[in-house]
Amino acid sequence: MLAFCLFFFIAEISRSWRCPAPPGAMNLLNWSCQGLGNLWTIEALWCLVCNEDPKIVFLCETRCSKSVMESVCLKLGFRQCIVVESNDASGGLCLMWIDELAVSLRYASNNHIDTEVEVLGVQRRWRFTGFYGCPDTVECYHSWDLLIRLGATNLLPWLCCGDFSKILTAE
Ligand SMILES: *[C@@H]1O[C@H](CO)[C@@H](O)[C@H](O)[C@H]1NC(C)=O
Repeated sequence: MLAFCLFFFIAEISRSWRCPAPPGAMNLLNWSCQGLGNLWTIEALWCLVCNEDPKIVFLCETRCSKSVMESVCLKLGFRQCIVVESNDASGGLCLMWIDELAVSLRYASNNHIDTEVEVLGVQRRWRFTGFYGCPDTVECYHSWDLLIRLGATNLLPWLCCGDFSKILTAE
């Protein structure tokens, strides 16, 4: 009985240690998919979405046309998305989100999608930027400029994620 009580007591303590998530907390998936034009990658993405249940998905290096990307979004169960088409065999961005969010586009380019996010019913806005560092390392200072400019125009809580590896490794 004592052992049972002790167990119960410890279980209660460890339960109360876990902080509850704040209202509007969510999973977000960020992936540089290196081309979504093949079944293997789409299937891998589908598995990630099924297992992690992200409310927002940001993809870079999609290397897809707008129409292909939109049909991928629908297949994954997202009815809303912003697509930046890839201009040649590289690049391409996509942001998709669930219906319970209101996402408004501030600005998008080949290197970023900048948005404001609101969980419907929760009075709290925050900013999400999906970033894709310029693959041409010679021009990577443009990417740094872009980041600085984005940061300078910010008043909301801000999450900026994406592919920074190219601009971090450039000399
Ligand atoms: C997002 O994904 C990119 C590319 O897969 C990765 O480089 C980056 O570290 C990830 N995380 C964040 C927080 O940006």
